[in-house]
Amino acid sequence: MEPISLTNKEQNSSDKKSQSALIEQGAIPEHIAIIMDGNGRWAKSRGNIRSYGHKVGVDSVRDVTEACAQIGVKYLTLYAFSTENWGRPKMEVSALMRLLARSLRKEADNLNENNIKLETIGQIDRFPENCQQELREAIDLTKDNDRLQLCLALSYSGRWDITEAVKKLAQSAKEGDIDPNKIDDKMISDHLSTADVPDPELIIRTSGEYRISNFLLWQLAYSELYITETYWPDFRREELYKAIQSFQQRERRFGKVSENSQKKSSSLYVQELTP
Ligand code: FPP
Repeated sequence: MEPISLTNKEQNSSDKKSQSALIEQGAIPEHIAIIMDGNGRWAKSRGNIRSYGHKVGVDSVRDVTEACAQIGVKYLTLYAFSTENWGRPKMEVSALMRLLARSLRKEADNLNENNIKLETIGQIDRFPENCQQELREAIDLTKDNDRLQLCLALSYSGRWDITEAVKKLAQSAKEGDIDPNKIDDKMISDHLSTADVPDPELIIRTSGEYRISNFLLWQLAYSELYITETYWPDFRREELYKAIQSFQQRERRFGKVSENSQKKSSSLYVQELTP
């Protein structure tokens, strides 16, 4: 399917070139998750209030979402508001809530026209009613779309997610529906908020912080991490392509040995055994 621009602007030819080079170069991750960080510092460095960074950050959300849809990423999960973010100054929290509600209202049709499905993970019931309403409407509008699933992690934390899964499993065990000895990796994954989504192959964090900050703690077991100094409001599609290029150069071993060294070591083994 020919990609449609979310911005309705002509997609420039140099971007088309970098997109196809990226696709030819190697595998595009099926699921990318991003810790969007550095909005406040970006704004402060320009003499602006922190909320201005969040506002420009929404433009990055739009650009990165559009690029992901165009290059064939199937799932994009964005850490938009952590459980810990409730501890920020009241003014900043309410500015973020207003921005979220306004952005959803503005972008829902665009998402829908581009066959993008919106989802959320986290404690949405902690959000003001108008935000919840905008979320419900956008989720309902886009529920049948299947080009890309954009999942906003809102009032989310990895420990909360795991705790909820443990509670559900403990309850099922108490009721005799499952045998505690049969609980395994898959059963835990199936009780997380991301149950229907594959684990992310690539996790990106902006603004040069080397932390996971309670994001998808269980799901990132084998994710490749990419950390960039770029602040989120400056993180646009070219930066995304760089992250994917870095991912394409990694060798994912999942705790095993590499295919090359496996071949090398087995031939050494044969040589050692050969008289
Ligand atoms: C981190 O920067 C960013 C956030 C806590 C909020 C991110 C939210 C948006 C970009 C808007 C979301 C809107 C939609 C529609 C998804 P920071 O404030 O922690 O920056 P700092 O580390 O420089 O202080």
